[in-house]
Amino acid sequence: MRIVQCLSKEEAIEAVATLIHDKLMGHPNSVIGLATGRTMEPVYAKLSELVEKNNTELGKSFYFMLDEYMGLPDGHGSSFKHYIRTHVAKPLKLKESQIAFPPVHSAEGAQAYETSLKECGGVDLQLLGIGRNGHVGFNEPGSKKNSRTRIVKLTEETIFANREQFVDLLIPNEAMSMGIGTILESKSLLMLATGKSKADVVKYLLNHHDDPSCPATFLKSHPHFTLVLDPEAASKINLKI
Ligand code: GLP
Repeated sequence: MRIVQCLSKEEAIEAVATLIHDKLMGHPNSVIGLATGRTMEPVYAKLSELVEKNNTELGKSFYFMLDEYMGLPDGHGSSFKHYIRTHVAKPLKLKESQIAFPPVHSAEGAQAYETSLKECGGVDLQLLGIGRNGHVGFNEPGSKKNSRTRIVKLTEETIFANREQFVDLLIPNEAMSMGIGTILESKSLLMLATGKSKADVVKYLLNHHDDPSCPATFLKSHPHFTLVLDPEAASKINLKI
């Protein structure tokens, strides 16, 4: 596991956006795994700045979403599809056919998603945030290390933490998420944690291994796992810069 401790939140965001951009420049046909959440919004904004500045060609790249809420009408304002359209597809000028969305409206969706992942050769770079309770994607505490894409029940804590992102009273309590086993098959993992609210979970992550109460700890066995931290998220750990 490689830890990149940054001197400011802006530096952490720029570091993550630059790593994604470098990947896309070096390998234009890369498959990128997309995460949602407030943490990623400025990353996507920075990435689109880099793409514009360097005139980067994204036509051959492909994107898989990490997760999606169940039970919302297609493209609903609280859905991750809406988030990705707003923060990724539009600013990066991607065609919607370049993005795979979890097929949450079909019973066999989870299996079909795993099949499409395999068919496109797997994810080259998976972008990840972390929930305050240690969830990744929507792999809530109790998830297994070998879990695959599936429908999961959301904890009250996660629903509460994400409350600002719900645009109306349609509050989902289930989601479809790539499993930990699915995520571990990505060629590299890039996690970003920013802000005070992530300081405790970052400390826990660094001090525990393969702990189902904090699913993010399962990712530490990945040979190419980079964790980027801003000063607030790193405020409870003792690493020298
Ligand atoms: C959501 C997403 C995760 C994200 C996490 C943290 O529930 N499913 O992929 O990493 O919450 O979100 P935020 O960045 O808003 O703290």
